[in-house]
Amino acid sequence: MPAAPARLVVLVSGAGTNLQALLDACADPAYGAAVVAVGADREGIEGLARADRAGIPTFVVRLTDHDSRDAWDRELTDRVASYEPDLVVLAGFMKLVGSSYLPVLGRRTVNTHPALSPSFPGMQGPQDALDYGVKVTGCTLFVVDDGVDTGAIVAQRAVPVEDDDTVETLHERIKVAERAMLVETVGRMAREGWTVDGRRVRLGG
Ligand code: GAR
Repeated sequence: MPAAPARLVVLVSGAGTNLQALLDACADPAYGAAVVAVGADREGIEGLARADRAGIPTFVVRLTDHDSRDAWDRELTDRVASYEPDLVVLAGFMKLVGSSYLPVLGRRTVNTHPALSPSFPGMQGPQDALDYGVKVTGCTLFVVDDGVDTGAIVAQRAVPVEDDDTVETLHERIKVAERAMLVETVGRMAREGWTVDGRRVRLGG
């Protein structure tokens, strides 16, 4: 009997093209994972519409509905944990998870960032890479910790910067590499497991 697919919860804040890549990959039973819920920090985004079209349950936990960031973080933790995920994927989720979330779900949560860590952490990785003038940037998948894009690195892909790039063309090229990285790496994590030893992450037993 094949093992049950790994349970993925995906958190989004926007277009959800990384989510879509995971949904498409999960359509193949051999991929070894299933998206069991999609969560967001805001309503009315394409990421949630993609989940609806795929028949996946969704939930929204908005910061503005809570008295404090801690209260928001506690509700996010409870909602995500209620789906008993094997792996949580932050796929364009534009919030930092906090001190309630991390002890419960941190070790099974990965985040994708559109830069080659440790360069250019934060909300505008492609803009910062362009402004600095680097010739190569890329994307990074990491295990979340209490920093901003500082967690142990699971996978990276390099992307060249072209002379005529704008932030939009560069980010779109990064996102092509990012989707491939995410699908390949999340699939391996689901099928083979992973270990974290300090800053070193290994896929497979
Ligand atoms: C992705 O490039 C992701 O790395 C980035 O937002 C984009 C979401 O695209 N996330 C961050 O910058 C978080 N710091 P998508 O909604 O089309 O998947």
